[in-house]
Amino acid sequence: MQKIFFETIRKMIIAKTLSEFEAAYRSLPRKSDIGFVPTMGALHQGHISLVKKSVSESSHTIVSIFVNPTQFNNRQDLENYPRHPEQDCVLLKETGVDIVFIPRTEDIYPEEDNRIFDLGGLDRYGEGPRRPGHFNGVAQVVTRLFDIVKPARAYFGEKDFQQVAIISYFVKNLNYPVRIVPCPIVREEDGLAKSSRNTLLTSRQREAAPHIYKTLCLAAEWMKESTPQQVAEKVKTEIDKNPLLETEYVEIVNAETLQPVSGWDEARHIRLWCAVYARPVRLIDNIQLK
Ligand code: PAF
Repeated sequence: MQKIFFETIRKMIIAKTLSEFEAAYRSLPRKSDIGFVPTMGALHQGHISLVKKSVSESSHTIVSIFVNPTQFNNRQDLENYPRHPEQDCVLLKETGVDIVFIPRTEDIYPEEDNRIFDLGGLDRYGEGPRRPGHFNGVAQVVTRLFDIVKPARAYFGEKDFQQVAIISYFVKNLNYPVRIVPCPIVREEDGLAKSSRNTLLTSRQREAAPHIYKTLCLAAEWMKESTPQQVAEKVKTEIDKNPLLETEYVEIVNAETLQPVSGWDEARHIRLWCAVYARPVRLIDNIQLK
């Protein structure tokens, strides 16, 4: 009873610089069992589900909020990215998080980061060619944050399916002692995948957006009679029927190698992923087909 009481009123520290973070970190009694949720803020229930999982599995949970400039290949996208850290902290307060780390750019990049990462070719399709440098930027910030936070586990949402696969790859490749925990996509009641970018949609675009997931669900039916290529085409045609939506790509890939498949028997697990514009907002989603 006593323990539960103290757990609930445990204080959440907000660290706004690296030295503030280091002071807060020193006060944690079990540094070997830290759960970490890296985010770019504008938190929603998808993030909160990661935080709750970490809190339930870890002695301490640390959340970072940092809009990482090196993973944006479009300046406008970086400038428009939603930012409201105060609101984020209110949302985190009831979750049992120990430290919210909101670093400044100079805390993460005291000097220019020129590191180029081996991503094992997992960036060859999907977001890779459409956002050159994006995953290398993700690798830069995630490794930097791991070096600072030294977590035992880190939690990532499967809405960014390719990101989770790439992070798992370089973490293993570089021998980071961190377990990557993929967490299922959290959706709105109408099926739209929760995303910080959803707040940028106009009300008409917001009404149109669930058409993406509805179509992905149809793909699971279409695969019974069509090849992967035909299914990808049908998905694109169906999404584009809505005048407010415009698909950038639809691909059907081996969920392990992330290479496109031409037959359903080619892989044990198969994922369909897509990017769709509700201009200027760009939404991504995916579904497991097999
Ligand atoms: O998924 C995100 O929000 C970001 O790519 C991440 C992992 C926090 C790195 O900036």
